[in-house]
Amino acid sequence: MDTITENVIITNQVPLVLQQKIISEAYTNVAVLVDENTHEHCYNVIKAHLPEHTLIQIKSGEIHKNLESCKAIWHVLTQQSFDRKGVLINLGGGVIGDMGGFCARTYKRGIAFINIPTTLLAQVDASVGGKLGIDFDHFKNHIGLFSEPDQVIIDPIFLKTLPERQLRSGYAEVIKHNLIADAEGWETIKKNSFPATDWMDTLRHSVTLKADVVLKDPTEKGLRKTLNFGHTIGHAVESYLLRHDRSVLHGEAVAAGMITEAYISYNRQFIDNDSLKEIVDYIDLIFERIKLNENDILEISNYAIQDKKNKGNRIMAALLKEVGSAQWDTEISKDEIQQSLQYYTLQT
Ligand code: GLY
Repeated sequence: MDTITENVIITNQVPLVLQQKIISEAYTNVAVLVDENTHEHCYNVIKAHLPEHTLIQIKSGEIHKNLESCKAIWHVLTQQSFDRKGVLINLGGGVIGDMGGFCARTYKRGIAFINIPTTLLAQVDASVGGKLGIDFDHFKNHIGLFSEPDQVIIDPIFLKTLPERQLRSGYAEVIKHNLIADAEGWETIKKNSFPATDWMDTLRHSVTLKADVVLKDPTEKGLRKTLNFGHTIGHAVESYLLRHDRSVLHGEAVAAGMITEAYISYNRQFIDNDSLKEIVDYIDLIFERIKLNENDILEISNYAIQDKKNKGNRIMAALLKEVGSAQWDTEISKDEIQQSLQYYTLQT
């Protein structure tokens, strides 16, 4: 078992760690939040080690990360007479963790919650940093707060149940953590293609990198914004394709975002041509390029103007200063975004 921060543990014994936590805290009431996927594939891993508990199931997917689902969760907690010493165990990906945490921290002004992230994306990203919330009026994570879970238990056992496409998507964040924070780590991972079996080392390293950043800047005033590398253009690609019924997974869009934002970093002479080529070649080993035409490129650059990281009309990105380090709040232009997307579609 590895303790990454005070509240984040990586282990291959999730049921026992969870059981110990429940016993030591003497919670008065226990609920487990699942969706239909984690109910089917993950609940069995922990079920036998739990005391008597309430199972709360919501529908999977980002479209259900909303106030209606919160009402359903608060309703069950109320019906089951949860008091302030109750605990909500969130078993699932980013939606379950963010929304379950939000519901826990607002129910009776806050009860405990434990996150057990079950996707690679949630294990290496949402697991650390305490971003809780829901979508509202079509805006992602519009209502929410920062609050760290009482405990996060990360176990690679759940990755066995994930489709490979989901695993690759989560791996985009692993690549990102190395590019923005660990030049040596980048040297190591770029020698290997996608790690197919033993995830323990990858999880340990990636979660530690993210935790180091978050500890220094928990509420994203500065350094934490470096975690947005690949996400300004990546989010624009993701939102545009979603709106046009061509949706891609988050990590697939972030992979496109990292190639394009690395290209802008190269044009600004922050990284050299060899580094750009290495980054692009490695990402291409793992992700297929998304097909984009001229009109898509124009529209995506318009979407980037909506990004919530912007300052007024200025589009803000985190660019690579060099491999292993990033610079946040760097203004990029619509023209640069379009040029980088041309590079992305033409250069293969
Ligand atoms: N996903 C980026 C962050 O947690 O800040």
